[in-house]
Amino acid sequence: MATPLSRTKEALASLLFPWRFMLISLTFLPSTLLTLLRTRDFHSLFSWPLLQAAWFGRFWSWAGPQVRLSAEELVVPLLEGRVVAGKVLPSTNLSSARVPGVGGTVLEIGPGSGNWVSIFSDRYLSPSSTSTESGTTPGTRAKVTRVYGVEPNPAQHPQLRAKIAEAGLGDVYEIVPVGIEDLASSGRVAPESVDCIVSVLCLCSIPEPRKNIAELYGYLKPGGRWFVYEHVKRPLDEGWVMSLYQGFVNLLWPHLIGGCDLRRDTAQWLKKAGPWSEVDLVHPENTPWYHTVPHTIGILTK
Ligand SMILES: C[S@@+](CC[C@H](N)C(=O)[O-])C[C@H]1O[C@@H](n2cnc3c(N)ncnc32)[C@H](O)[C@@H]1O
Ligand SMILES: *[C@@H]1O[C@H](CO)[C@@H](O)[C@H](O)[C@H]1NC(C)=O
Repeated sequence: MATPLSRTKEALASLLFPWRFMLISLTFLPSTLLTLLRTRDFHSLFSWPLLQAAWFGRFWSWAGPQVRLSAEELVVPLLEGRVVAGKVLPSTNLSSARVPGVGGTVLEIGPGSGNWVSIFSDRYLSPSSTSTESGTTPGTRAKVTRVYGVEPNPAQHPQLRAKIAEAGLGDVYEIVPVGIEDLASSGRVAPESVDCIVSVLCLCSIPEPRKNIAELYGYLKPGGRWFVYEHVKRPLDEGWVMSLYQGFVNLLWPHLIGGCDLRRDTAQWLKKAGPWSEVDLVHPENTPWYHTVPHTIGILTK
């Protein structure tokens, strides 16, 4: 049972979390600068975007695994199609599951250091879904036959490659080393060709989000699914104090956390990206008022 005291402690820790996260990120800056100096990478030293990418790559090799630990109880079932209206369904009762999990051809946006790559491996395949098709049973995952991981930050590629090898996905997972804004000109992925898009904590960091989210919609086949776990803006109508506080934190946050923006209306932009046959995108169950970085979770079906 949560006592008032433990609730207060938890709320305080939660309010302080962004400052702690930014401080820890700062501690990775000196070693980033030293490495760039030592490798005589003056190009990155004198370009803020390149320096920020190198810095973020180092920081995320520490932060990524922590984030995975706290988010996997939602993200693993999400990719299995077991999250409905922000709640995780038990795998023993999928009667209210509506959509199959990931399978077939997948476009992963901003995989970073490969935190979620292992989920695409057959080891996560439930015994009931051994078909090679893209999957038709709600709440279960099917075989993933191809993944395009669109990751523009080269500082993260070595770790991403290691995660791909670890998961035994060498022949399945292809790194596309561009930002999604350059995906079309890369010619690597055809329009309406993917069964699934997976975006986990990355739409906060892409340029021109509204435009690029709408463009990504075009890669989905009709019937294709977009699996979403992203953090979003606190609107005023969810409480003006936290909305203001989030705006205040966000004055500093993007500069220290690799360009990540806390104040994006990502859920609305996803809903308006194009016509969907089914939309299930809400805050996870029990999102408390004092979360500075509240999330949206769910699946949109084209
Ligand atoms: C906060 S990290 C999350 C990484 C990973 N999805 C995870 O959950 O651990 C955001 C990622 O988005 C990537 N990113 C930034 N700009 C991007 C763009 N234009 N297109 C695709 N990915 C981008 C960053 O390089 C970074 O790896
Ligand atoms: C399965 O879950 C549904 C609601 O999602 C519930 O109505 C039903 O009673 C559950 N069945 C079993 C056997 O637990």
